[in-house]
Amino acid sequence: MDKNEEIIKTAHRRYATKKFDADKKISDKDWDTIMEVGRLSPSAFGFSPWKFLLIESEDVKKDIYEDAWGAQNSLNGASHFLIILAKKGITATSKYVQHITEDVSGHHFAPDSPFSKKFDDFQKTQFDLTDGRKQFDWACKQTYIALANMMTAAAELDIDSCAIEGFNRSKIEDILTEKGILDPKEWGVSVMAGFGYRDQDITPKKRQPMDEVYKVIK
Ligand SMILES: Cc1cc2nc3c(=O)[nH]c(=O)nc-3n(C[C@H](O)[C@H](O)[C@H](O)COP(=O)(O)O)c2cc1C
Repeated sequence: MDKNEEIIKTAHRRYATKKFDADKKISDKDWDTIMEVGRLSPSAFGFSPWKFLLIESEDVKKDIYEDAWGAQNSLNGASHFLIILAKKGITATSKYVQHITEDVSGHHFAPDSPFSKKFDDFQKTQFDLTDGRKQFDWACKQTYIALANMMTAAAELDIDSCAIEGFNRSKIEDILTEKGILDPKEWGVSVMAGFGYRDQDITPKKRQPMDEVYKVIK
């Protein structure tokens, strides 16, 4: 099988797992690889506005179970259960952008630098990221890129996964806040995911044909 065939095989191999084998655990080596792929994922302006919470606590799993209805299959047997947080309040002059610029990118930060002005303009006049909710949703988009990469990496390692949006965000955030896990002023819940080993067959892909989703503009 050539590389191209291998890539397509992995795309078919990854599927939304509805039943996990609770007795099978992902090795540390494989999990570290999946996490590293998440960490290395691209994001707009390189802000990587995410935090990955690996929920090992049975108490937390129990407490979110009812309000995370789309996660119940994963909570019932996935080896690793992840809640991905997205950063709130990213603006050109925010502490977070200053932190990433200085501590991660190794650049000088100044609120009136060309970069800060460019990002400010992008937010305000180009992408309409003009209130807290829009800024949070924009951060959430970036987390989905990381999640997609992690699910593909998992499939490469023959590990199953399921992305999860089936939850009541405000209720889950309240639970995590009450437990001291989340600072809701700084972070919000973006998406969740279960990773582990299936206890069912892989479901075949149902997708629109290529000519419905792909158009070459000449
Ligand atoms: C962002 C996102 C959220 C999803 N939320 C849930 C969910 O809450 N519960 C669930 O069982 N599946 C969930 N899914 C799985 C989708 O239903 C599934 O990926 C889709 O039907 C395509 O099937 P496939 O992944 O098996 O190819 C989600 C998928 C994505 C990408």
